[in-house]
Amino acid sequence: MSGIRATGRLHLGNFLGAVKQFVDYEKEGNLCLYFIADWHTLTTCHDPREISSNIIGVATDYLAAGLNPERSIIYAQSSIPELAELALYLAMFQSKNQLENLPTLKDLVKDKPYISMGHLYYPVLMAADILGPQATIVPVGSDQIPNVELACGLARKFNNLFGHTFVIPQVGLRTVKIPGLSGGKMGKSEQESSIQLDDDLETITDKYLRHGITDPNRKRKKDPGDPKQCLSVYPVHKILYENDSESLQRIEHECRNAERGCQDCKRELARNIDTLMQPFHERKRKLLERQGYVREILHFGGMKAREIVQPTLSSVRKKLGVASS
Ligand code: TRP
Repeated sequence: MSGIRATGRLHLGNFLGAVKQFVDYEKEGNLCLYFIADWHTLTTCHDPREISSNIIGVATDYLAAGLNPERSIIYAQSSIPELAELALYLAMFQSKNQLENLPTLKDLVKDKPYISMGHLYYPVLMAADILGPQATIVPVGSDQIPNVELACGLARKFNNLFGHTFVIPQVGLRTVKIPGLSGGKMGKSEQESSIQLDDDLETITDKYLRHGITDPNRKRKKDPGDPKQCLSVYPVHKILYENDSESLQRIEHECRNAERGCQDCKRELARNIDTLMQPFHERKRKLLERQGYVREILHFGGMKAREIVQPTLSSVRKKLGVASS
């Protein structure tokens, strides 16, 4: 199980870095739960129209990426009120000090005027997302690993105190970090450094040509380049040519020997991204005409996920001795 916040439309980094792996887990026959963390979105976004349209937007992108709603459960976090209740119980066992020192908190609140209770509580709610459905594998980006570890810690503590209640989840290590155009992580709130999934070939080419940072030491085409120093283009070639070492070696060789310029490399990358995204675009076109269907998927997904979470919650209530209905 994994989740994505409803902060914007998915970009290429989400697609290659996470959602593609979500589809692989599903294809391998696992029971998968993928959700939209709309409550978590409230820590950084207070525009109701933006959030509600992003919920449907992310769900549409999940489906367009190839998730099959008959096999995976796709839902919005807010359709499972039990998760908020579970987070409240988990909070009773969570030290405030540990939350204050998490690196994920520093990321979340940079540029914020103050730390809200929502920011501090973020990892506890995330623990409820994970432990509520008894997730076994949680694929997340490396920045989110401390939060998953916190969930494991809470599960162990609770199990020690009250007997086995929660499965101890594992971090799914398949996620990959995709660099944005300036070389940092491709960020969904920083549109200018991202390739959006809806970008057409011309837009992708233009973004790389204008903003893509390559080997900073290579000034002219006749200077030999070093693919290892290339910040935004070669690392993505490497991912796309994962199963085509010949093409990757050709790029490396031509770059080192100044036989290809950075512009050629950027154009080739843009073409490959566009080709890779064709099936996504086709599915998305159809889904955009059927937004009612996407809402239905979220509705039924929410009901199914709720059924999965409810037994965990009744057992937690019973163990804690609070009223159970
Ligand atoms: N915090 C995650 C992110 O920003 C999203 C998320 C919320 C999540 N709850 C989760 C991911 C539970 C995995 C499992 O990427």
